[in-house]
Amino acid sequence: MDFSGMLKTRRSVYGLNKNLPVFTDKIINLVRNSVRYVPDAFDMKSQRVIVVMGDAHEKFWNAVYDELVKYTGGPIPRERLDSFAAAAGTILYFFDSAVVNETRVKYPLYAGNFHDWVMQSNGMLQFAIWTGLAEMGVGANLQHYNPVIDKMVARMFDLPEAWVLVAEMPFGGIAEQPSPKMPEDIDIRVKIEK
Ligand SMILES: Cc1cc2nc3c(=O)[nH]c(=O)nc-3n(C[C@H](O)[C@H](O)[C@H](O)COP(=O)(O)O)c2cc1C
Repeated sequence: MDFSGMLKTRRSVYGLNKNLPVFTDKIINLVRNSVRYVPDAFDMKSQRVIVVMGDAHEKFWNAVYDELVKYTGGPIPRERLDSFAAAAGTILYFFDSAVVNETRVKYPLYAGNFHDWVMQSNGMLQFAIWTGLAEMGVGANLQHYNPVIDKMVARMFDLPEAWVLVAEMPFGGIAEQPSPKMPEDIDIRVKIEK
């Protein structure tokens, strides 16, 4: 598959199951390589990832449910969370605010840019992994239960205080394909100047 093919193949897949078409080692390698090679401002290596699988995965989504119940003050529908728990795993994306603050102090001229940069790098990382998973035939989607779940996640995985949760990406076998994308006149959004 060429790169444009990979771009087209990456979709938000909500119908996920535990039947991965590849060995989990291949997914873990993709995550490791993505963290290694995705760029970061000043090469500060601020990005952090946890791949949650197996029993920890069920436990994680049950705890997300409990946090949402606490937050809303009442029982909430479980279907959406159950669909994420039905996946093979979830990749949690963080940045390390201690690393970002150290770099900010070193480069005071750019101090105001660091929040945007660290989020841009995190987005690149999410995109690299999401697209790499798609290339292997593994479906994924992107969720944001942070900040409601931040404290629970820090406790569950015994994380340094400086790690800031950015996104949650359930992944798994594709039980149901997403609907095709709507046609779009891309020239409205892309201009070529010569
Ligand atoms: C920064 C960002 C935040 C997103 N947040 C969510 C989210 O919280 N929940 C969700 O279901 N999808 C989320 N999405 C997925 C988008 O809704 C989805 O990518 C978009 O509708 C295009 O569909 P596609 O991914 O199938 O191409 C997010 C995507 C991006 C890039």
